[in-house]
Amino acid sequence: MKKLLLGALIGTALTTTVEAKPLVAYFTLTGNTENAAKIVAEETGADLYKIELVTPYPAEYKEQTELAKKELAEGTLPPIKPWPENIGEYDVVFVGSPVWWGTMSTPVRTFLASGVLKGKKVIPFVTHGGGGADNSFSDTAQCGYGRLERI
Ligand SMILES: Cc1cc2nc3c(=O)[nH]c(=O)nc-3n(C[C@H](O)[C@H](O)[C@H](O)COP(=O)(O)O)c2cc1C
Repeated sequence: MKKLLLGALIGTALTTTVEAKPLVAYFTLTGNTENAAKIVAEETGADLYKIELVTPYPAEYKEQTELAKKELAEGTLPPIKPWPENIGEYDVVFVGSPVWWGTMSTPVRTFLASGVLKGKKVIPFVTHGGGGADNSFSDTAQCGYGRLERI
């Protein structure tokens, strides 16, 4: 009986001291954010989840920029495919996005605005083409979050 109790206590101590794995959720069109996401996952031991659009973005850069501009101006949240069923198990979620027109890309906005990360620690990161993160982090407030700190 004593052994059983001890085993249970050690088990509890282990599960409370060992931190749960984080998740790295990211969207990418050309692979840059995916590369960054893989580095974050390697460094933190996190699982990876690629955010995918129900209707893929056009292949041409000009069309991509025009569609993104329209979506951002109109506040359109393009539908994304379902996220992992076990997402509730993650306490910490890194969220990666390309910078689009100086802000967070619309597929990542869909993910954030869904509310599925409410109550979790959300750590955003972005890749960009030289213009900097710009309003990407402060604009997370538009997705139901406060200004999120960059890493
Ligand atoms: C629609 C669109 C808008 C973009 N807007 C910006 C921008 O405002 N500033 C910037 O530095 N780069 C901008 N870029 C470049 C991307 O942020 C950059 O190439 C990024 O690393 C792409 O990530 P990905 O390969 O994961 O898609 C834009 C690219 C696209 C397709």
